[in-house]
Amino acid sequence: MNLIFFGPPGGGKGTQARLLAARRGLPQVATGDILREAGAAGTPLGREARRYMDTGDLVPDAVMIGLMQERLARPDVRAGFVLDGFPRTLPQAEALEAVLAAMERRIDRAVEFRVGEETVIRRLGGRRVCQAAGHISHVEFAPPRVEGICDVDGSPLLQREDDRPEVIRRRMEVYRNEIPPVLDFYRVRALLVALDAEGDEEAVYARLEETLARP
Ligand code: AP5
Repeated sequence: MNLIFFGPPGGGKGTQARLLAARRGLPQVATGDILREAGAAGTPLGREARRYMDTGDLVPDAVMIGLMQERLARPDVRAGFVLDGFPRTLPQAEALEAVLAAMERRIDRAVEFRVGEETVIRRLGGRRVCQAAGHISHVEFAPPRVEGICDVDGSPLLQREDDRPEVIRRRMEVYRNEIPPVLDFYRVRALLVALDAEGDEEAVYARLEETLARP
């Protein structure tokens, strides 16, 4: 199954994509994670991307499309994938369709995560990411056993640079501006479904599975 997850920052896309990967073996392809890894490694791509990410703006389409094309050519996504964070603009959606068509593949379902602004602020304000490997926790919803320390590998937990309030506001604005034509692109192809993404992780996951089971 080839899926796309859309949603505002903090909508829970990454969390649900990781649950799907663990429970169904469907690999998560998260463009934000790919860019952050490049940033941590100090590659030219990472350095360029960081300039946009730190202010909450989108990385240019040409960079993102090339990156996605390369990622979808890898063998681990042959049996299916969850795209988390791509496409975010109409040119990205059009390019994705062309890339998949050339591989004789297509998107099966595009899921729009819906959450209110209050939830976004609470989820992002409390999110912590481990310095070593990017494991995610939350001070309120998924607290670590020892404050400030990752349960998985014992490294320090930090706040993402773009989870600062002023950058969250910019990310929300960018999402609201860019996403309507992208949603329309999948709506006219009858691929778009809305998901109520409020509530705890398991409640959202149950709704997601129900959504995916519908013909
Ligand atoms: P990206 O990393 O994709 O950020 P985002 O889309 O803003 O998404 P988030 O990771 O903030 O939110 P999420 O919905 O995954 O929430 P999560 O599950 O982690 O992109 C970052 C930047 O990279 C962009 O701003 C842009 O600059 C660039 N970029 C990326 N892709 C691009 C593209 N295609 N084109 C151009 N630029 C691009 O949850 C958040 C927190 O809430 C976690 O702590 C989690 O534990 C908690 N939580 C989640 N679900 C629940 C729940 N149900 N109940 C309680 N807590 C929950």
